Amino acid sequence: IHRREFVVTWSMVASVPLFRTLGASSIAEIMRYLSAQSVPAGTLIVRRGDLAQSMYFIAEGEVEIELPNEAVRLGAGQFFGEMAILHKARRSANVRAVEPTKLLILDAYDLQSLIVRNPEVGEAIRSVAASRKELSAES
Ligand code: CMP
Repeated sequence: IHRREFVVTWSMVASVPLFRTLGASSIAEIMRYLSAQSVPAGTLIVRRGDLAQSMYFIAEGEVEIELPNEAVRLGAGQFFGEMAILHKARRSANVRAVEPTKLLILDAYDLQSLIVRNPEVGEAIRSVAASRKELSAES
């Protein structure tokens, strides 16, 4: 994977709907946890069956979740890779960049600290993970 770091800015973090309700000190804390990576179109970011170490927020661009019967696209402000971490499972699907995409990467360990300090963020991520899991159980 071709990696190119970019600077994580305040506005990138604040543009993620999940973080929008947080106060300044929480956003500053999250900025310190996040690392940045740009990937070209076509990059396989997450491989089904792999062990998981991090989750991803989309700062810019678009990714495709390759589900067995359909492909779901996620764009700026949305996140993925949370299921394997929260459910302590293997990656449930391939995730591929469909455009040049800027990702904010959060390590599993830092996600746990973030959840402890911002329980409402943890609840929101858990509820998205649960509804995605339900969707894949149906298909
Ligand atoms: P994870 O299992 O870690 O890796 C693949 C990711 O694809 C998964 O986390 C979710 O973030 C995402 N994903 C899985 N199923 C769906 C779905 N039905 N809708 C949107 N995203 C999904």
